[in-house]
Amino acid sequence: MKLRVLTGITTTGTPHLGNYVGAIRPAIAASLEPGVQSFFFLADYHALIKCEDPDRIERSRLEIAATFLACGLDTQRVAFYRQSDIPEIPELTWLLTCVTAKGQMNRAHAYKAALDANVAAGEDPDAGISMGLYSYPILMAADILMFNAHRVPVGRDQVQHIEMARDVAQRFNHLFGQRSDLFVLPEAQVEEAVAMLPGLDGRKMSKSYDNIVPLFDGGAEGLKDAIARIVTDSRLPGEPKEPEGTTLVALYDAFATPAQRVAFRDELRAGLGWGEAKQKLTTLVEAEVAPMRARYAQLMSHPEQIEDALQAGASKARAVAKPFLEQLRRAVGLRPMLATPASGALHLQGHAPSVVIKPALPVFKQYRETDGRFFFKLAAANGELLLQSRGLADAREAGGWVKRLKTEGATALDAAPVALADGVDRAAVEDALAALVASQD
Ligand code: TRP
Repeated sequence: MKLRVLTGITTTGTPHLGNYVGAIRPAIAASLEPGVQSFFFLADYHALIKCEDPDRIERSRLEIAATFLACGLDTQRVAFYRQSDIPEIPELTWLLTCVTAKGQMNRAHAYKAALDANVAAGEDPDAGISMGLYSYPILMAADILMFNAHRVPVGRDQVQHIEMARDVAQRFNHLFGQRSDLFVLPEAQVEEAVAMLPGLDGRKMSKSYDNIVPLFDGGAEGLKDAIARIVTDSRLPGEPKEPEGTTLVALYDAFATPAQRVAFRDELRAGLGWGEAKQKLTTLVEAEVAPMRARYAQLMSHPEQIEDALQAGASKARAVAKPFLEQLRRAVGLRPMLATPASGALHLQGHAPSVVIKPALPVFKQYRETDGRFFFKLAAANGELLLQSRGLADAREAGGWVKRLKTEGATALDAAPVALADGVDRAAVEDALAALVASQD
């Protein structure tokens, strides 16, 4: 199997520079590596956990899809889809929910943060906490395990969720993967250098802190204005500055080559003013963002093209998800009740070991030999041959005898053109016929 890389973006907001650097860019870069099969999706079911504003959900899905496409996602190479277009994901979520320890979910960061905030505020610990928030890591595990992703590019804040997905996968494999593992154990891929881009105030860049640098919103002006608001110390131009640990340099690093990084630090140490440094940062970021911004504008004016791309992506993803979910359903015991007529027994086709259920009844079979004559035979429920007919010239004659034996039982036995199979005693045949007669009622 090719290396599978998968990542999702929750569709509640408008992508900002932190999303681009931390998730979108590394994901697209990874998708271009040879030997990689990528799955990128809009985590819109996750969005419903945080957001009860339908218009915002709709808008965000569109913006995020347009962003991925504008940033160079190649939909020929990548399965690019909406989570909510894949019904197998919520179904898998349930299978995983049933093997996930509640105690483990109690420890999930997002839930714990909400809980702690309630406690700190003197509220009921569960105030405002939905089951969606509580179970969030299981849905995320399903996103990942559904496609047996090996690598999951995420921000550092998501690493715990990937570990939970591994745990759930391991438990599921242990319980249901009798012959071989069902799930690949995924690994988080955090871009160490730029995993968590700081926002304007130095905290993690996040809409909830109101400290973001927009990616496309507001155009070149918006980018420049945001960068101008980056908090710095009050050193004046000409004064040496310590570059390490500053927000400005962290942002610069995210777009710079190693040589540019060194040069920028040297300049700051030599007294480059913060204002000028911000201009350099703006120029650097703009060079990468401007062409993508133009494509983004084009796409946003053609939402139907985005819809088409996502539908095509959903078909690709479901081509993987559907058969795999069927395998998983069987593994847990949700199996079709199918007869395999050849053996005379019923086989429930499932994940190995397959379950064989003895049917209550023996079976008559009629067939024609290559010499043109018609035969029938009676097999016990376990497949053992009980009776074998002689060859008959007429299919209707054969059918007639089968019918008589089924309805009259052993009383028709002596007249019928049949012989007991080798080693079978007559009592066994009489019992079998009696069972058939009884079943006619
Ligand atoms: N929870 C992730 C976030 O908020 C988004 C997400 C949902 C995701 N499902 C995923 C990321 C699966 C990677 C893999 O960033």
